[in-house]
Amino acid sequence: MTSRIIKQDIYSVGVIDWDRKLFDEIIPLPEGTSYNSYLIQGSEKTALIDTADPSKKREFLGNIKKAGLNIDYIISHHAEQDHSGLIPEILGLYPEAKIITNPKCKELLIELLLIEEERFQTVDDGEAISLGNKTLKFFYTPWVHWPETMVSYLEEDRILFSCDFFGSHFATSDLYANDESSIYRAAKRYYAEIMMPFKPFIQKNIEKLENLQIEIIAPSHGPLYKNPQFILDAYREWISDSTKNEVIVPYVSMHGSTRELVDHLIECLIDKGIKVKPFNLTTADTGDLALALVDASTLVIATPTVLTGPHPSAVYAAYLVNALRPKLKFISIIGSFGWGGRTVDLLKGLLANLKVEIIEPVLIKGYPTENDFSKIDNLAQEIYEKHAELDFS
Ligand code: FEO
Repeated sequence: MTSRIIKQDIYSVGVIDWDRKLFDEIIPLPEGTSYNSYLIQGSEKTALIDTADPSKKREFLGNIKKAGLNIDYIISHHAEQDHSGLIPEILGLYPEAKIITNPKCKELLIELLLIEEERFQTVDDGEAISLGNKTLKFFYTPWVHWPETMVSYLEEDRILFSCDFFGSHFATSDLYANDESSIYRAAKRYYAEIMMPFKPFIQKNIEKLENLQIEIIAPSHGPLYKNPQFILDAYREWISDSTKNEVIVPYVSMHGSTRELVDHLIECLIDKGIKVKPFNLTTADTGDLALALVDASTLVIATPTVLTGPHPSAVYAAYLVNALRPKLKFISIIGSFGWGGRTVDLLKGLLANLKVEIIEPVLIKGYPTENDFSKIDNLAQEIYEKHAELDFS
């Protein structure tokens, strides 16, 4: 059990999940995660900020018990169960406690956790509640990453409790993000997997919080930020329109022909000074692929044609890229086929969300010949010329 002091009368009571390997049954967690929760003891009332994943019920309730405080308010920023899932347990332990949240989150909590309506007290955007000598002010921050998400700001202590916003899946015994380079990568990966599809909303929500005097950002996953500028600047960089001189090549090959094309393309791009990130889709970590998508200018999907279409691994990758809506500028497709099919059309259809220019695909028949390799040379040259028109500053 852990309960750590952040400032006087403010405690971290969440749980570190060192062993969790997968989130939402899709997101790999190579560094585990944490479900952060905070207790704020005011002179009159005590508030609990979010809870923890139900899988950590024993540890979380142990932390609450150890703190030994009566809970008057449960602040629920977000209805997803890794933060809300133990609210019913807390309501049972503290029969007078009220859930403070916004109307949309209330609706979702009732639907997802079957909580009784009378246990709620809703707040408007910008509204505050007093804990006596401490004041919590609430800001709606929709779509980071559900429609009901909000954050709260502890005015006297200048702490922003941001829930998933600015979080990282990173299990560490450090309370704070002391090792910024490790946290930068974990937070960027988290951004890519969870937040990237909502880029325009992130911009608006950062602007909304810009005028707050923030000393500490306390997210619901990963360590806290004593240097809020670090993570705010990182988010501004990730959501900016600019990309890097990078090409991502997710590929799959059944008998080696597509792989030959991929290897040749990689060599050509490296020769032209372009950074290349290949991902073998039979073993690739989808989180690493998402992470690479934050900065890349171009995506080249490489697939054989199987049963008249792209290989299912390539279909999965294309579907994922389309859902994550990265700021890619160009896409192309390469691969080998035996006797025909609709690979290019099917993949284009799967990438319809993206506002990108399609560079002429290179689909070849059988094992690549010198003529086929020269088509790859031309593709690399075209990517080089397209990138030359971009601003990588
Ligand atoms: Fe960490 Fe959207 O839950």
